[in-house]
Amino acid sequence: MENFNFYSPTYFAFGKGREADCGKLVKQFGGSKVLIHYGGGSVVRSGLLDQVKESLKQEQLDFVELGGVKPNPRSGLVYEGIELCKKEGVDFVLAVGGGSTIDSSKAIAAGVVYDGDFWDFYQGKWIEEALPVGTVLTIAAAGSEGSPDSVITNEDGMIKRGASGDAIRPKFSVLNPELTETLPAYQTACGITDIIAHLYERYLTNSKDVEVTDRLIESLILTMKTEAPKVMENLQDYEARANIMWAGMVAHNNIVGVGRSQDWTSHQIEHELSALYDCAHGAGLAVTMPAVFTYNMNHDVMRFSQIAVRVWGCQMDFAHPEVTAKEGIKALQNFLCSIGMPKNFEELGAKEEDIEKLAYTCCYGKGNEGGRIGGFVPLEQKDVEEIYRLML
Ligand code: NZQ
Ligand code: ZN
Repeated sequence: MENFNFYSPTYFAFGKGREADCGKLVKQFGGSKVLIHYGGGSVVRSGLLDQVKESLKQEQLDFVELGGVKPNPRSGLVYEGIELCKKEGVDFVLAVGGGSTIDSSKAIAAGVVYDGDFWDFYQGKWIEEALPVGTVLTIAAAGSEGSPDSVITNEDGMIKRGASGDAIRPKFSVLNPELTETLPAYQTACGITDIIAHLYERYLTNSKDVEVTDRLIESLILTMKTEAPKVMENLQDYEARANIMWAGMVAHNNIVGVGRSQDWTSHQIEHELSALYDCAHGAGLAVTMPAVFTYNMNHDVMRFSQIAVRVWGCQMDFAHPEVTAKEGIKALQNFLCSIGMPKNFEELGAKEEDIEKLAYTCCYGKGNEGGRIGGFVPLEQKDVEEIYRLML
């Protein structure tokens, strides 16, 4: 196991009705004038926005509102939010929605206290300072409710990039599984896929002797394997949604990723797909993961066969571990298809003729002069092109 630091100070208020505590929590973490940031309207229709406002009013907290965050959140609204916060003297950003709303809130929070262009952070500058952020989560997926990360798409060129810093880790996150019951089946499945991807990105490591985190990751994927069919069968299954919601947080606040190198190839390759085709991040990952794993399998066949046996119930073939490894990748893909996820470029709405461009932007688009991606296996543009071809 490698040396590590683990710092994850988010306060979680979990369970039914906890959104009523929003006002108290904002006060507890020093807010007095709040920006309530939200998405395309689901929180208006569900009545959640009104409940959150009521909770702030009860604590005599002032607030302004900014809605309209799109999935794969855009830079334009971030600039608008930064201006609004400066004009109104906002000192706390409250995200009410999914990962996109949370990420847009984090970008605004960092941008308000920064003299330069907030996009600098998405080109590699570490976020040292930000307004405090709180969240009321409505979809179990991205894990942004407990992460120090934010992913934004710059409308100038539709470039999707991430930024990080402990300053944008939410001060508190309200996790009420009931709030996810209005999610349609497709979005629910996209979230489940993203959670599984966050676990695989950490599982695929070159670090040795990381049994505790290996076992934690396996148990979380096993949980998704049992809970996902229940929630797909009954979208109002509170207990299944509760287990998935907490798994989504645990999968991505890095408690299961410490002391080990991580991969993130599938995310880097997927981000080009959701940037170009505006598909859901989870749907993109469903198509990307099996292709990446198939391409990288021979780098460590035993790791892929280990997860095949321990999670997907495959029989270990000691003479041919590559057969077991392949079966595990197939089992993952079958599982994702069973919950309604796409399996190839066509089902995702991606185009073969874009492959070269996708691979180029993936490898070089971040000002990455070396042109390599991947923490598990270093990959160049030609490898990434081949991986995209495996998705046809
Ligand atoms: O915008 P509204 O109307 O709220 O509708 C949303 C949106 O259309 C809808 N939705 C959310 N909660 C709902 C609901 N509809 C009905 N009932 C509810 N309770 O679902 C749609 C998707 O929402 P979005 O916020 O985009 O989903 P998600 O949480 O999957 O976030 C995806 C974004 O997070 C990024 C992704 O790249 C993508 O841009 N990621 C962020 C990470 C991070 N910050 O740590 C890590 C992830 O790997 C990921 O990259
Ligand atoms: Zn993700």
